[in-house]
Amino acid sequence: MTKDRVLIFDTTLRDGEQSPGATMTHAEKLEIAELLDEMGVDIIEAGFPIASEGDFKAVSEIAANAKSATICGLARANYKDIDRCWEAVKNAKSPRIHTFIGTSPLHRAIPNLTQDEMAERIHDTVTHARNLCDNVQWSPMDATRTEWDYLCRVVEIAIKAGATTINIPDTVGYTAPAESADLIKRLIAEVPGAGDVVFATHCHNDLGMATANSLAAVAGGARQVECTINGLGERAGNTALEEVVMALKVRGDIMPYDTGVDTRKIMNISRRVATVSGFAVQFNKAIVGKNAFAHESGIHQDGMLKNRETFEVMKPEDIGLSGTSLPLGKHSGRAALRAKLNELGFDLADNQLNDVFVRFKDLADRKKEVFDDDLMALLSQNESGD
Ligand code: KIV
Ligand code: ZN
Repeated sequence: MTKDRVLIFDTTLRDGEQSPGATMTHAEKLEIAELLDEMGVDIIEAGFPIASEGDFKAVSEIAANAKSATICGLARANYKDIDRCWEAVKNAKSPRIHTFIGTSPLHRAIPNLTQDEMAERIHDTVTHARNLCDNVQWSPMDATRTEWDYLCRVVEIAIKAGATTINIPDTVGYTAPAESADLIKRLIAEVPGAGDVVFATHCHNDLGMATANSLAAVAGGARQVECTINGLGERAGNTALEEVVMALKVRGDIMPYDTGVDTRKIMNISRRVATVSGFAVQFNKAIVGKNAFAHESGIHQDGMLKNRETFEVMKPEDIGLSGTSLPLGKHSGRAALRAKLNELGFDLADNQLNDVFVRFKDLADRKKEVFDDDLMALLSQNESGD
C-alpha cells in the first residue's frame, strides 16, 4: 500500500511557549529547534517575531541555523507584523510566513470589522505576505466556530491572494472528531482552488480530543498536522506531536500516512522540553509518560516476560527508550521478582524465592515501589537468617 505524506508542523516554540509560565531562554529555544530539525519535523514555527525583541532574535537565529526544516514565523493580519515576520525568517533555506485573523463572530467583534471589511483585510494581508515570500500559510482563527458560508468565502479569498497552506484551527478545542473530518473534507470539495493548496489542522485539547480531531482531519484530507512536543500549549495544550506520529506509525493499517519524523528521537526531546519549559509530563501521558511502558501487576508482568505484545502496542525502543520497565510493587508476582533477581545476578532455588517473595510482599505493602537496593537488603537478611 502506498502511503500519503503528512507534514508535521511543530509549534512548541510559538503556541507551546504561549503557555503561562513556559517561557524559554534564547539558548533553550535554539536547542529545541535543533532537536526538532534533527528529528525530521517538516516545519518549525519558531515564534511570533513582532511580540518581542527576544522572539525576533530567536526566530532569526533559528532560521539562519536550520538545516532542513522550513522555518515559519507568526504574524497578525497587518503589514507591520508581516514585514517583521519576513525580516526574521528570510534567511532560512526555506522560510514561511504564517498570518492569521479571528473569523468567528466572537473574534470579528474584537477589531469590530464587518464580514466585508475582514474579507478585504484578508485579501490585502495575504497578498502582501505573498509578495514577500513564496510560502504563505493563512489561518482563520476559531475556524470551527465560524459560519460555514463565511469560512468558505475567506478561505477562497486567501487562496486567490496566494496562500499556499490553509490552516483550520480549532482554537478552543470545541470540535469533535466526526466534525473535524467533515469540515476539512467539505472545504476541499467546495472551495474553488482548494486542490491547489495544502490543508492543515491545528487543534487544542480543551475537551481532550486534540489528537483524535487531528487524525480525523487527516482522514478528511488535511496533509499538515500542527502540534507541540508533550502537547505543550495554552490552557489544556495543543495536539501532542508524539501521539500523532506514533498513532500513524502504529496504525498504518487503517491510517496509511507517513511522516518524516525519526520516532527514536521522541523521548529525548520530550525530556528536554519538559525541563526547559518547567512543565513536567504527567506519569500516564500517552507515549512519553513515565508509566507509558511500565507494568506493575503480576498478570501484566508475567505476560510481558513471555511476550511483550501482550500488553504493549509499540516498542519502547521506537521512541528511544532502552526497554520496558517492570517496577516491583505490591501487585507484582513471582515471575517478575525472579526476573529482577536474575538481572541483579541471583539465581534462587524455588524455596529460597518463596521465602524472599513473602518478605517482598510484606515490604511492598508498606512501600509504593520496591527498588534494587530494597531487594539486596531482603536478600542479605535471607543469607544472615534474620
Ligand atoms: O489556536 C489558534 O487559532 C492559533 C492560531 C494563531 C493559528 O494558534
Ligand atoms: Zn493555537
